[in-house]
Amino acid sequence: MKLIEVQNYDEMSKLAAEIIIEQVQTKTNSVLGLATGGTPVGMYQYLMKDFTQNKTSYEQVITLNLDEYIGLEKDNPQSYSYFMKEQLFNHINIPENQTYLPSAKSVHDEEAGRNYEKLIETVGGIDMQILGIGENGHIGFNEPGTSFSSTTGIVKLADSTREANARYFTKMEDVPTHAISMGISTIMKSRQIVLLVSGVKKAPILNQLFQTDVNENLPASILKKHPDVTVIADQEALSILKEKKGSVFS
Ligand code: F6R
Repeated sequence: MKLIEVQNYDEMSKLAAEIIIEQVQTKTNSVLGLATGGTPVGMYQYLMKDFTQNKTSYEQVITLNLDEYIGLEKDNPQSYSYFMKEQLFNHINIPENQTYLPSAKSVHDEEAGRNYEKLIETVGGIDMQILGIGENGHIGFNEPGTSFSSTTGIVKLADSTREANARYFTKMEDVPTHAISMGISTIMKSRQIVLLVSGVKKAPILNQLFQTDVNENLPASILKKHPDVTVIADQEALSILKEKKGSVFS
């Protein structure tokens, strides 16, 4: 994993957007794997700004999101489908039918994961996957303990994940208990991965990520085995790692 240190959230967002813009300009029909949550919001804002100013075109781009809650309709403001429209798709020239999120009708909808896997294959695989990381080390919604060989499917959200995401809902009971998520092996097939890490809340997990061996209790640790991962982390997220002056900084 290559680590790029930045000052703050804004710098992380700008750099991540620049990496995506270069990807899309170099390969106009890029397949981008996208994430939701708080982390990529600033990056999406920079992409929109660039679209307005420089007209970078997304006409041939295909996007595949990592995950979606089960039980929320697409027009529910808390759904990731709604989030992506609000945060990005409605503001750039990507045709709606080239933007995909996994979608499952119920927690028993096993077909949904298989269909998403087929879709990813049909579009030729993901060129660049953007990831955030959960405070518990999850990537996508693959919680600690998930097999590294997992493919896209239904996942139960960890209590800590539901608590972390409760900030977007009126009350805790409204936070879905399950989601459909790209699997870990699916994420690992992406040709390039960019992991964004910002804020003091992510400092403990970022420290663990760099200090511990690859193991299924820390899903993001598998990224160490991927040939092309860039981690962009800000000073708050790096605070514990730098304090310990771990191997990556010595
Ligand atoms: C989102 C996703 C999650 C988030 C992670 C961090 O699509 O797959 O893994 O990236 O939960 O969330 P934030 O960015 O809200 O801290």
